[in-house]
Amino acid sequence: MGWGMKNRLSRIIKPDTGRTVMLAVDHGYFLGPTTGLQEPGKTIAPLLPYADTLMLTRGVLRACVPPTIDTPVVLRVSGGTSILGNLADEGTTVSMRDALRMNVAGVALSIFVGSELERKTLLALADLVNEAEEFGVPVLAVTAVGKEMVRDARYLGLACRIAAELGAHYVKTYYCEDFEKVVRNCPVPVVIAGGKKLPEHEALHLAANAVKNGAVGVDMGRNIFQSDHPVAMIRTVREIVHKDLPAKKAIEMYETLAKEKETVFA
Ligand code: R5P
Repeated sequence: MGWGMKNRLSRIIKPDTGRTVMLAVDHGYFLGPTTGLQEPGKTIAPLLPYADTLMLTRGVLRACVPPTIDTPVVLRVSGGTSILGNLADEGTTVSMRDALRMNVAGVALSIFVGSELERKTLLALADLVNEAEEFGVPVLAVTAVGKEMVRDARYLGLACRIAAELGAHYVKTYYCEDFEKVVRNCPVPVVIAGGKKLPEHEALHLAANAVKNGAVGVDMGRNIFQSDHPVAMIRTVREIVHKDLPAKKAIEMYETLAKEKETVFA
């Protein structure tokens, strides 16, 4: 791995703990103005100080995030579909040139293993890795799961392993039973998505179980920005990810922070 690649990766996965809290706010790319992200800039601003990395699209980055921020950006570069169509039919939406112009720390693309378009999405991943290698940009493969896919260790393990085999530098997947097998069988770091909004204590359990079982962190969205107390939530998730705070203590921490006044972004 070259210097640039290592440097970018270490901006995402923090070398002091080997972990990362990525804030995922890219949902609009297929969901439109989803709950909590109607005005992305207002959602992002109070959470930014607690995010190791911001994961989002080019459009929201340019329109809603000041270029003066110091937080590394992982740019979603796949899309072209909506919740109304065939989600797996994504293409690459951003050139590496433009990604680099925005000074990204990494790029992300979804793969749809098991869908009729799996070959197309897997080859798009391979093409992206080929290009990213030229410039030292780490690629995050997002193992997207269709409605018909079972989120179990066998399926997620298959998707993560294939992503790693094709050269992804790290992989995002979902937490599942026997998650440690998914991690063990994947030779690159794994982060988990939070998935649909859960009660806060369940989301905190999920994050704690994921890191306990080998994830290097989270790329979490809805369970943070759709929470009644997003800042309390991300601050607690940070403690879990970087300090191995157990779930029970994390829930106590969240409840304490939730009582404090949320930072108001004007
Ligand atoms: C989904 O494809 C998006 O990439 C999201 O970034 C990802 O699912 C993580 O967000 P959430 O925690 O809301 O699932």
